Amino acid sequence: MPENQHPQRTASGRRLSPARRVRHAALEAADGAIRQGLKHPLLSPAVIARRMRGAESLRRAVGGKTVVITGASSGIGEATARQFAAAGAEVVLVARRSEELERVAGEIRQAGGDADTFTCDLSDRAAIEAFLTELTAAHPRIDIVVNNAGRSIRRSVVDSLDRFHDFERTMALNYYGPVAITLGLLQRMLDQGGGQIINVSTWATQLPSPQYVAYTSSKAALDAFTRGTAAELLGTGVTLTSVHLPLVRTPMITPALDAYRGMPSLSADEAAQLIADAAIGRGSRVEPAIVTLAHIGDAISARGTDLVMGAMQRMGLGPVGRSR
Ligand SMILES: NC(=O)c1ccc[n+]([C@@H]2O[C@H](COP(=O)([O-])OP(=O)(O)OC[C@H]3O[C@@H](n4cnc5c(N)ncnc54)[C@H](OP(=O)(O)O)[C@@H]3O)[C@@H](O)[C@H]2O)c1
Repeated sequence: MPENQHPQRTASGRRLSPARRVRHAALEAADGAIRQGLKHPLLSPAVIARRMRGAESLRRAVGGKTVVITGASSGIGEATARQFAAAGAEVVLVARRSEELERVAGEIRQAGGDADTFTCDLSDRAAIEAFLTELTAAHPRIDIVVNNAGRSIRRSVVDSLDRFHDFERTMALNYYGPVAITLGLLQRMLDQGGGQIINVSTWATQLPSPQYVAYTSSKAALDAFTRGTAAELLGTGVTLTSVHLPLVRTPMITPALDAYRGMPSLSADEAAQLIADAAIGRGSRVEPAIVTLAHIGDAISARGTDLVMGAMQRMGLGPVGRSR
């Protein structure tokens, strides 16, 4: 093992004691385990396939298929569009900023991929209806939809007493948007004998998440819609999947970077790999192993989770800080 991975000396040049070296190695091992636990779900068929066949497993899942990705002008949606297009999917990119969509689509085409774009404000029901009409005219067959467009709001409930609209606008985009798209495309997926809706959610629906209640409530509604509909549609060939992402370094978290400093996080590409796992495995839920372990702990003691999350908030750790 290279020496710089287990330093023998302190910054001031003094030799590290054996106890400190053991502690350092243990901390590094824990850090490595946390990073792996964030990147990979607990062993599942999708993960095994991804490990054994690498890029080939995504190619088999999405190659030649038409995949609609909302929120593809930035962050996780953009990274997902690139990965799916590189695996041979025709990607249909949706968001409000047409110039950003054209930038992503242009880069995908330049790399040999196939991309189309639609501008739509997905928090506006009438705009979604118009988009669905145009989409179905241009793409008679849609195989996969990744409902990824979303917005987060960080504000405590006591700071929100006169801000009911925070709850309305998170619901409009994070819940009603994906529901409207699903209802609009479901009959066609049933008629064509199959399809998949992947709904991008957050680990924070699995645990109490102080300061983010408007956001996590809208994503929790989306999770309930996903799980219930997935169970209703068993055997039809149409599947729904919730992806519970951890913290991901994208423009979404930029306004709260100070609060997140030091927290383990994924890159947008790593998050897109979890969405790829959803397309490969087609189960009803994908989440990093750490999230699964955390909600097993929560099932054993919800009070324990409340105490840990509350203590983290008081210590200034985790997604806390000034409201915006
Ligand atoms: N970043 C994280 O830590 C994290 C963690 C867990 C889950 N997530 C979820 O991951 C998803 C993607 O987030 P991200 O981190 O990639 O954020 P991002 O970089 O800010 O991207 C958000 C995307 O949503 C689109 N969008 C926002 N409002 C829209 C609207 N009204 N109509 C249509 N599109 C809209 C944006 O495009 P336009 O501005 O061009 O419309 C953009 O493409 C979200 O659902 C988020 O909740 C993120």
